[in-house]
Amino acid sequence: MKPGYRAIYTQYRESIIRGLLKPGDKVPSVRVLASELGVARKTVETAWSILVGEGFLVSDGARGTRVNPQLVLPPVKRKASDNSLSTPASVFGDAERKQTGFLRLGIPALDAFPSKKWLLLSAKAVRALHPGEMLAPPLMGYAPLRDAIAHYLNVSRGLACSPDQVVITGGYQHNLRLILTLLACTQQKVVYEEPGYFLGQRILEHMCPQLHSVPVDNDGLDINYLLRNHRDAHFIFVTPSHQSPLAVTLSLPRRQQLLAWASQRNSWIVEDDYDGEFHYTRKVVPALKSLDNDDRVIYMGTFSKTMLPSLRTSYLVLPRVLLAPFKQTAELIESGQPLLTQKILAAFLGEGHFYKHLKKMRNLYSTRRGFVLGALAEIYPLTFDVEVRDGGMHIIAFLRDSTQDVALAQLWQRHELQVSPLSEWYRGSSPRYGLIIGYTNVTSAEEAIALLQRPAQETQALLTDGSRQVAEERNIPCRGKQ
Ligand SMILES: Cc1ncc(COP(=O)(O)O)c(C=O)c1O
Repeated sequence: MKPGYRAIYTQYRESIIRGLLKPGDKVPSVRVLASELGVARKTVETAWSILVGEGFLVSDGARGTRVNPQLVLPPVKRKASDNSLSTPASVFGDAERKQTGFLRLGIPALDAFPSKKWLLLSAKAVRALHPGEMLAPPLMGYAPLRDAIAHYLNVSRGLACSPDQVVITGGYQHNLRLILTLLACTQQKVVYEEPGYFLGQRILEHMCPQLHSVPVDNDGLDINYLLRNHRDAHFIFVTPSHQSPLAVTLSLPRRQQLLAWASQRNSWIVEDDYDGEFHYTRKVVPALKSLDNDDRVIYMGTFSKTMLPSLRTSYLVLPRVLLAPFKQTAELIESGQPLLTQKILAAFLGEGHFYKHLKKMRNLYSTRRGFVLGALAEIYPLTFDVEVRDGGMHIIAFLRDSTQDVALAQLWQRHELQVSPLSEWYRGSSPRYGLIIGYTNVTSAEEAIALLQRPAQETQALLTDGSRQVAEERNIPCRGKQ
């Protein structure tokens, strides 16, 4: 049935009162809305004129009709359980959210992507595209984006880099391929963190026969272990801000030790600063590269965590001495990254939206982390130990009395909870056991409880069976149920 003027009036009035349309926002023209709804223009005109009469809308002549910029609305009253203001309810329905799985690690809040701003900037970028930009994109990246990233890294990550050191790339795998090709280091000794980002491990295992691991403790990578066992390494890959996956921060004394080692040995450090933007209780820790006086650090950043993984846009900050050889190699094997995305990102950063977006995301993630921590404590008080680290985008629920994290993760995955078993992130023989849980897309405390409740009974059964089996094997009395 076609809506009458009352239905249109009520819908727009509600949208304004609930804050979905903000003072100053444009509403569709009479012509456009009438054709969209399949109603007579008169119907929309009547609805608009009532809303104008009541002061909700103002007519701006030829420029169209807007929500009254002077409108002051009382704050919306919230029910105790309603978290919709502090954390937007998901804009996606259940079916859409199932496609990504719940509690998935390492993805940003998909419902908080700034689509409206992105749309505006995309339109501007397309309109401003000139013929020279319709051919091959610049090899090292779009200059205004390189400028904006250098500025951002200066201000927010403490890096004293210039735009010519910034290269726009297409994600982690691309970065590794470039670095390994550029430095022709595949036959040399390479060191990786233990535990470490599973994708990095697999790539390096595949490409570098001399791959070694260095353990990580509460202060980050164990540098003394590195110096004792792999002092001669040519290359080391680290995640100093939030170790992946343990989320610990590399301590300042260790940062200095690591940099001193690299300078003495002429070795390279690859700093993967994949989510360093996200700290919640203290100031963001500057990047390792900010202390890199001898230019031994190759820095990797990404927009996958701050914006969207599907943008496939990341960047490297190269030591000066590598710039010329990099360009030479790139001219042969690279063809640049898609220009439009770079133009939109350049505007997003250059106009200051990125900083606002990060601030918003820090608040949102801190709240959402609270939802999941609360639900874990309520539903699994005796199953897990959670070491709460500052920041990051995931938590690790360490199993207290069990080594069955792989079976447990599979069980949770059957309930559409895309958690990852910690032990699989180790290469060596003494892993820790637990579940790596992403919280960035959990929109309320109720949702966290509902999600974690799904596998609760089966979890208990699995762990109780497991501990009974171990007890029988060792012939010791079994612990009771939790
Ligand atoms: C440790 C680590 N480094 C880097 C990345 C970024 O990868 P990309 O830029 O390809 O999305 C990720 C993404 O999950 C990650 O977990």
